[in-house]
Amino acid sequence: MTRRRIPMEARLRPPASTATAGARRVRPDDKEALAILLFAAYRGTVDDEGETFADALAEIEKTWQGAYGRFLPGCSFVVEEGEFLSSACLVSFFEPHAAPLVVFLMTRPEQKRRGLARLVLQRSMDALHEEGHGRLTLVVTDGNEPAQRLYEALGFRPIPTDVPPRPEERV
Ligand SMILES: CC(C)(COP(=O)(O)OP(=O)(O)OC[C@H]1O[C@@H](n2cnc3c(N)ncnc32)[C@H](O)[C@@H]1OP(=O)(O)O)[C@@H](O)C(=O)NCCC(=O)NCCS
Repeated sequence: MTRRRIPMEARLRPPASTATAGARRVRPDDKEALAILLFAAYRGTVDDEGETFADALAEIEKTWQGAYGRFLPGCSFVVEEGEFLSSACLVSFFEPHAAPLVVFLMTRPEQKRRGLARLVLQRSMDALHEEGHGRLTLVVTDGNEPAQRLYEALGFRPIPTDVPPRPEERV
């Protein structure tokens, strides 16, 4: 079954808090750990299309190289716990949306529901606002309830498809 993909966006506002504990910016030496996280997080979800670990590694490399728009490591955050990355939010500047895009938001299965995705996504939103961006976009698969609930809680709303992008918001 092909599920509907829903483009969403949130207005970016000044951070409510300056607390930064628990998450750090992503680094180039995180690539393999990100692939391990990607492979584990999407397995068995509505977005799982049977990708292998090699596919996950290739996806991370593609993200880094700009296949989904210029990668923004300064606005992409991870939670590192022991030998694993427990959660990550990877963001690029996506020209077709004329705005930043969440390329991946993911949490290891055994670490879900601890508020980690909320933390890394909020850190990305705050960093993007700090850099002068006015909004953040993403695309979610209809039926991905955990993600849809989180996005709604953080102020994301579906983008009306007849509204053109707003180039004046580019930085
Ligand atoms: C979506 C995902 C990133 C959420 O990660 P997480 O770290 O478990 O999320 P959080 O603990 O920060 O949850 C924050 C809020 O999201 C919502 N939420 C998260 N998981 C949920 C679930 N299973 N059911 C309902 N709501 C859920 C809740 O509102 C939650 O707040 P609460 O715990 O105070 O009620 C994670 O489930 C995941 O990795 N899924 C697979 C990858 C994916 O689909 N990514 C999104 C692609 S668009």
